[in-house]
Amino acid sequence: MSVPSAKSVSFSKTTITELMIPSYANFGGKIHGGILLSLIDKVAYACASKHAANYCVTVSVDNVDFLEPVEVGDLVHLKASVVYVGNSSLVVGINVIAENVKEGTVKKTNNSYVTMVAKGEDDKPTKVPELILESKEEVRLFLEAIKRKELKKDYRSKIREVSSVLMEDTHEDLLASERCVLDLKKFTL
Ligand SMILES: CC(C)(COP(=O)(O)OP(=O)(O)OC[C@H]1O[C@@H](n2cnc3c(N)ncnc32)[C@H](O)[C@@H]1OP(=O)(O)O)[C@@H](O)C(=O)NCCC(=O)NCCS
Repeated sequence: MSVPSAKSVSFSKTTITELMIPSYANFGGKIHGGILLSLIDKVAYACASKHAANYCVTVSVDNVDFLEPVEVGDLVHLKASVVYVGNSSLVVGINVIAENVKEGTVKKTNNSYVTMVAKGEDDKPTKVPELILESKEEVRLFLEAIKRKELKKDYRSKIREVSSVLMEDTHEDLLASERCVLDLKKFTL
């Protein structure tokens, strides 16, 4: 199989702007987190598939912290760029900014990283083009993505370890100061 030629970060940079309409709001009048997650997924797909020149699937989403509420009437801008490529995977960094056009204010609401995998005609992961890094910032983001990948691997194995230890007992001592009620009569172990 031929290796696709390298592409720059700017080649696939993608921005989506969406008006926050009333049907996107929750009972508190703010925009549902799920609306923003859906837009994050959409812009990540657009950006990743442009770089890969292939269909891509979402594998993992990191750092979804909602820093500020988004209001009905705001324009939400989602700016996406490929920050890292592996063999078939790509990490897309997304900045979410909410703009109030009447007040002329902008606020940063999210900074997320979505891992996508490119799939070929056979529906199997397929090689993506290398990423051409053209600035110190692009190098920093690429290396940061590698670090995040290592830390996630470490985190997953630690959580598995902790989980298997926790399975062994009811750990009444650990729960003593927590806001839960241990109803041992219902336990079927
Ligand atoms: C993602 C998927 C293609 C991986 O398939 P697989 O047969 O396990 O393939 P591989 O193990 O070769 O992994 C392929 C790539 O995915 C990456 N990957 C797999 N799981 C991952 C995870 N949880 N987080 C980050 N990357 C992951 C691998 O590191 C590898 O990257 P590389 O090619 O750059 O080295 C497969 O699990 C899948 O199709 N998942 C469903 C995706 C989907 O439908 N998303 C929409 C949600 S409804």
